[in-house]
Amino acid sequence: MAGNRTFTMIKPDAFEAGNTGAIFKMIEAAGFNIVAMKATRLTPELAGKFYAVHSERPFYKDLCAYMSSGPIVAAILEKANAVEDFRTLIGATNPAQAAEGTIRKIFAKSIEANAVHGSDSDENAAIEGNFFFNQAERVR
Ligand code: CMP
Repeated sequence: MAGNRTFTMIKPDAFEAGNTGAIFKMIEAAGFNIVAMKATRLTPELAGKFYAVHSERPFYKDLCAYMSSGPIVAAILEKANAVEDFRTLIGATNPAQAAEGTIRKIFAKSIEANAVHGSDSDENAAIEGNFFFNQAERVR
């Protein structure tokens, strides 16, 4: 059975552009409830740990530099079928391939500066949520 939680980040490009509120408006309108949320900033080391799964990919170094280049907003979200439904809401990783009306189609600048992160599995949603939040920081 699909899980009911996912994890997201508003990435530095979207935060800097002042799109955090507009993106969360779309997220809530799609039926997601906020379980935990904070504005924060990753160091290059923390970005490297978060994206360790991509450490062998050619874009890893740039990705870590980019993700630590400015503030982000991290959040745990709740909804039935959360991981899959959230990935549909945000659209393809590359905004050039993202469907009309998706968050990345509307707000992303490039495949790297693609506005939002969304977990790709229930297992990673739990790992990523635990990376940023302890139990006391969750409202549900
Ligand atoms: P995200 O969903 O956060 O997961 C990994 C990130 O790596 C991805 O979004 C992109 O922002 C970034 N990235 C940069 N280049 C690529 C690429 N060529 N393919 C996939 N992801 C990339």
